[in-house]
Amino acid sequence: MNGNQHLFIPGPTNVPEPVRQAMNLPMEDMRAPDFGDFVTGLLSDLKRAYRMEGGRVFVFPSSGTGAWESAIQNTLRPGDKVLMSRFGQFSLLWVDMAERLGLDVEVIDVDWGKGVPVAEYAARLEADKGHEIKAVFATQNETATGVTSDIAGLRAALDAAGHPALLFVDGVSSIASIEFEMEKWGVDLAVSGSQKGFMLPAGLGILGVSDKALAANKALAGDGMARCYFSFEDMIKLNDTGYFPYTPATQLLRGLRVSLDMLLGAGMETVWARHRRLAEGVRAAVAAWEGCELVAQGPGWQSDTVSAIYVPDGVDAREVISGAYYKYQTSLGTGLNKLAGRAFRIGHLGSLNPVMLCGAISAAEMALVDAGAQITPGAGVAAAQAHYRDTTPSTLAASARAA
Ligand SMILES: Cc1ncc(COP(=O)(O)O)c(C=O)c1O
Repeated sequence: MNGNQHLFIPGPTNVPEPVRQAMNLPMEDMRAPDFGDFVTGLLSDLKRAYRMEGGRVFVFPSSGTGAWESAIQNTLRPGDKVLMSRFGQFSLLWVDMAERLGLDVEVIDVDWGKGVPVAEYAARLEADKGHEIKAVFATQNETATGVTSDIAGLRAALDAAGHPALLFVDGVSSIASIEFEMEKWGVDLAVSGSQKGFMLPAGLGILGVSDKALAANKALAGDGMARCYFSFEDMIKLNDTGYFPYTPATQLLRGLRVSLDMLLGAGMETVWARHRRLAEGVRAAVAAWEGCELVAQGPGWQSDTVSAIYVPDGVDAREVISGAYYKYQTSLGTGLNKLAGRAFRIGHLGSLNPVMLCGAISAAEMALVDAGAQITPGAGVAAAQAHYRDTTPSTLAASARAA
């Protein structure tokens, strides 16, 4: 194999070289007298990336799924009623976890290709005069279908109903990539992981917790669900001085330091705009591929971190993915669950730029043609190029001057 194997799955994402270098260091003492100061700074900068001033952020040595589990175990009781929606593999798995942890789950099933049904949530919250619903759950970015949902709208629905339910958000493939506002949107528990927008290997489950959620945890007063490894109480005791109740993943934390410096140094708004531009180039390519279509049903649902793409009738998406991998050294995302064979995905989050994405589009295009798709070779790449050329900072500045 020559050159690089190219990675365009929606996580793990490419790790920037400065982050990788920062993790290449000798093992260190996680109880060293100066380690606490390092961690305290890290936790407060994570709050800046989450856009919160109050509350806390916990970092577990787990993947994002551990942070899901922690959020539920530490704020709810077995049998509590919660409102969830299911429209892709990850929202489906979250429902499954909530049921297995003993919650009474009211599920709204939605077509795969759409997202959180805010009006339906609003109606159910409005009808719940006795406030039986203790929490509402929303997957902000469904990675399986490339669908983004309106979390600000969901907060507005809760407020309009005067409903006190906690708001849980799965931000695994949105936080640190696309707009996310923990405090402004009144999110109470927000889950992410290290291997997506934070541009690190998998291994950190990151959980933002509002003051209201911390109060809900306190109100359990040792009661509620059994919890140990993911206990807020144990974490809080040690985190206050910058330490952990068990061995932290020190190298990942060193990498996270550099990744946060990159994200916050650029500014979160710039990070979000960069992802929008990258995504629009991919969407332009998909529009140019005859017979292909985004799984997301319309512009309002399209994700800026991942595009799930239906292949033309008669083409097997598995063949496209394996062709890209074996013939063109390019990893594309698979179609998950009922999308297997029907769709492939291009992850466009993390440390990427337009030329890298033109490579992804080119590999997908070659693999599509090889698998029998009747598309014009080069059409997708040309469409993406046109978009990226029209949106370079200097092109934008020139058209602003001309206007
Ligand atoms: C939206 C979403 N939620 C949850 C998860 C699960 O996270 P992890 O694999 O880090 O446990 C993923 C993983 O891809 C995801 O994309």
